[in-house]
Amino acid sequence: MVRVVTTIASVGFLAAAAPAAAQPGDPVAGRALAIELCGTCHLVPGSLRPVPDGVPSFAAIARKWTDAEELADRLILPPHPVMPPPPLTNRQRRDVAAWILSLRE
Ligand code: HEC
Repeated sequence: MVRVVTTIASVGFLAAAAPAAAQPGDPVAGRALAIELCGTCHLVPGSLRPVPDGVPSFAAIARKWTDAEELADRLILPPHPVMPPPPLTNRQRRDVAAWILSLRE
């Protein structure tokens, strides 16, 4: 009986602790966001949409970055040209970062 109570208590603790830790992003959702919000400027692999010169492609960004959390943070740090509104939520930033890093070979 004591053991059951302890187990329930620790499961409750883990469940309560989970939201604090950053959950990994979802690359599928991130790709959809990137196509919709970023594809006017950054080349999305497989997309035929024309983009302006001088903007790094997502393939190039993927080669440069290795850490998903740092990349997610970079998305809301200047310098960056005006991002399309609405601003990405924390969840969306992690999704986009996870998708970009999934492009790494
Ligand atoms: C209006 C055009 C535009 C849009 C829209 C845009 N970007 Fe950018 N982005 C740029 C330009 C230009 C640069 C390069 C100059 C700079 O770093 O400020 C850049 C730089 C970046 C970098 C840094 C690249 C590096 O080498 O470190 C990341 C990451 C990035 N963009 C991600 C995104 C994401 C994700 C979106 C969509 C949510 C997005 N951008 C939407 C124009 C745009």
